[in-house]
Amino acid sequence: MNGETALLDLHTLPEPGSATLETDYDGRRVSIMIIRHHGAVHGYLNDCPHLGTPLDWLPGEVLDRDHRHIICATHGARFRIRDGLCISGPCLGDRLAAVPLSVRGGVIYLKPPSDSCAEA
Ligand code: FES
Repeated sequence: MNGETALLDLHTLPEPGSATLETDYDGRRVSIMIIRHHGAVHGYLNDCPHLGTPLDWLPGEVLDRDHRHIICATHGARFRIRDGLCISGPCLGDRLAAVPLSVRGGVIYLKPPSDSCAEA
């Protein structure tokens, strides 16, 4: 519907929690991270701005132990969940690339390229 792609059922994502998956976006195959945190769902490319590696430290796990930040498994950069800003590590001040999500009828959708997070 409206060029949106169904990604996963909201109930399969813990609050707080994360998932990663591959999908087509903006004309290419990409890995994306989906983070559910404080009543919102955030989406980013699973592509660290430091060296371009996936962030997962276990499959689908990109949050730190306290669920306060996104953390990169490769060199430990930490990113704010709400806007993807790197607040510590080798890419300090860089940002994760946001992907726009929406939540409707208990399903998380990937929207065509434009803005960023959705109320859960
Ligand atoms: S590749 Fe992510 S911090 Fe280095």
